[in-house]
Amino acid sequence: MIQDKLLTSLSQPKEKKMYQVPSYEDTLEEIVNSGLHTMVLALGYRVGILDAMERLGKASTPREISEEAHLNPRYVEEWLKCTSSKYIVLYDNGKYSVRTSDRVRKAVHTSAALLIFADCFPKLVNAIKNVETKTGYVYPPHELEWLGKFSELSSCNPSWITHNLNPAVLHCHQQMNNMATSLQLLDFGCGYGKLASELAKYYPKSSIYGTDIDDEAIQSCKNKYHLPNCQFEVISTELEQQWTEKFDTIIMMEVLHDLPNPVTVLAQVKRMLKADGYIIAFDPYVSSDMSKNVGMKGAQNDLPYSMFFCLPNSLSQQPAAGHGGSWGYEDRERFITDHGFTIVKHPDDDNQQDPSRTHHHRIIFKK
Ligand SMILES: C[S@@+](CC[C@H](N)C(=O)[O-])C[C@H]1O[C@@H](n2cnc3c(N)ncnc32)[C@H](O)[C@@H]1O
Repeated sequence: MIQDKLLTSLSQPKEKKMYQVPSYEDTLEEIVNSGLHTMVLALGYRVGILDAMERLGKASTPREISEEAHLNPRYVEEWLKCTSSKYIVLYDNGKYSVRTSDRVRKAVHTSAALLIFADCFPKLVNAIKNVETKTGYVYPPHELEWLGKFSELSSCNPSWITHNLNPAVLHCHQQMNNMATSLQLLDFGCGYGKLASELAKYYPKSSIYGTDIDDEAIQSCKNKYHLPNCQFEVISTELEQQWTEKFDTIIMMEVLHDLPNPVTVLAQVKRMLKADGYIIAFDPYVSSDMSKNVGMKGAQNDLPYSMFFCLPNSLSQQPAAGHGGSWGYEDRERFITDHGFTIVKHPDDDNQQDPSRTHHHRIIFKK
């Protein structure tokens, strides 16, 4: 039987591989053209064309879509023709539609980062041309709000907590009985608060605190989330003193690599951490060894934001550490130990080397 199969396969002409490896030029042209279309997509998201199409919920004519969106029909028509040429919008027999799913919503929301990038251009050009000094700028307006929504669409959900955070929390507090009753958790640099609010639901018997230096972000958290075991405060020296040795676990989500003053901030969190507490930091999944980043999704996803947001913020004030997204987890770990902490290894840590992971490298450390 096996022999028969072998003979048949030998007698068949060898199948020719039909695909061609794209040339460097093809790839570059496609990247640039996709970038142009991403800007057009962001425009449609900003003015509400996509929302209108989602509300219509069926393939519709340009007139129906522009009426639903209350927008100039000629511009809407041009937008539909442009985006459908690139398969962003689906075209069939005079009508246009979009698919909706969480991945689609995340991709569409991601496109809006380009609009904030564009606002940064003059400042960034100046900073790059300033050879003599470390120059940067704090996060541009709406960046944290945009990031808050991005986190909601990507990582701030029970499944992410189950796979990425909870194993670390259990590992750290395994000596405690019934950990859920007694944990004091701080989300340091909580931004628009989605993670803290999800933690409050995930650990209903624990007390969750969110803190940030950004007043607007904390005000938004206070207005939006009203959970009995969750509170938000703007960080201050008084609060830091009040919270001395208060927390079992401090989470720093996408904070460390953006800081102009990581040494000061590490001293702050050290003070607020209990003697037997743990810090769990999540930062971009980027290696300090550039050869490990070439072609990797983690680096490809994170480093554009670093160019416009993380690095300039990390250079925005003295001592202007200038880490940014390309800092890399190996150097970050070294930095943490150089500043008086001990790294805690988790059995899952090696899986973090899996190149299919795209976002968030986790480091657990203690005093
Ligand atoms: C990149 S954002 C991440 C926000 C949020 N954790 C998330 O993942 O969506 C970094 C956050 O750290 C906050 N931050 C920066 N420096 C801080 C400091 N010294 N104390 C408290 N928060 C700080 C920023 O205001 C910002 O909200």
